[in-house]
Amino acid sequence: MSNITDTTSHLSPIMRVMQFAARKASRNLLRDFGEVEHLQVARKGPADFVSKADKKSEETIIENLLRDRPGYSVLAEEGGEITGSDKTHRFIIDPLDGTTNFLHGIPHFAISIALEREIDGNPKELVAGLIYNPITDEMFFAEKGKGAFLNDGTRGGGDRRLRPGKREIFADSLFATGIPFLGRPGHAKFLKELHQVMGHSSGVRRMGSAALDLAWTAAGRYDGFWERGLAVWDIAAGVLIAQEAGLKVESLTGGDVLETGDIIVTNEALYEPLMERVG
Ligand code: IPD
Ligand code: CA
Ligand code: CA
Repeated sequence: MSNITDTTSHLSPIMRVMQFAARKASRNLLRDFGEVEHLQVARKGPADFVSKADKKSEETIIENLLRDRPGYSVLAEEGGEITGSDKTHRFIIDPLDGTTNFLHGIPHFAISIALEREIDGNPKELVAGLIYNPITDEMFFAEKGKGAFLNDGTRGGGDRRLRPGKREIFADSLFATGIPFLGRPGHAKFLKELHQVMGHSSGVRRMGSAALDLAWTAAGRYDGFWERGLAVWDIAAGVLIAQEAGLKVESLTGGDVLETGDIIVTNEALYEPLMERVG
């Protein structure tokens, strides 16, 4: 762990490994983001460049994770499945969440890494997760049964425990969501949901990174988040972080949220009122 300042000695071994991999990949992402900001004026735009940045981030993450945990399996957005000799552990990786923001020079994107584990033949469960925002140097992370935390890096606040937002009145609450776009289904349904929420709440944000939406909800910045049709790498780490912060995390359409990708996250008090409007 040579030239990255080690501020992680208090973390569990697996969380150290995961955070190190995320920070390492984030250096390339930050450098590439600087380039992208200059490429905005080109007619073709920086799409190919960003796709390379995305893949490079994924390679760096996987290389660093597997150096410390050789044999673990991997599911990563760009490269898909790698079946390791240890099928009871699997990393789930989104090397760049918020690609459209990155592509347009908007500084709001993240790396998301989760680890799931199968114990005694039971279905796999999430045991560790992190969402790292390289721009703000905010590291949101959680381990099963140990709570969720935010390390705000250079701002020097150390690890701060995340607790659910306390707002109980819908009209006072701020929500985040994801709007379906070209090539995605559910446009008419989404407009109905938005109509139900926007007129009765303090507002709705669409910031463009589902991972950060989940992290920010866990940090109490948003009072709730909903979105349909997400992939497991968009939400795996965020689901654990939100649960460990004490929030209710469910599938909008029943079943396992990691399988449906239709997610709703709020505190207990806002769950029914939000579900009535977007469920
Ligand atoms: C996307 C972001 C976005 C969500 C999309 C995702 P990507 O992930 O999380 O907020 O609305 O559905 O695909 O493509 O930037 O990794
Ligand atoms: Ca994503
Ligand atoms: Ca991605």
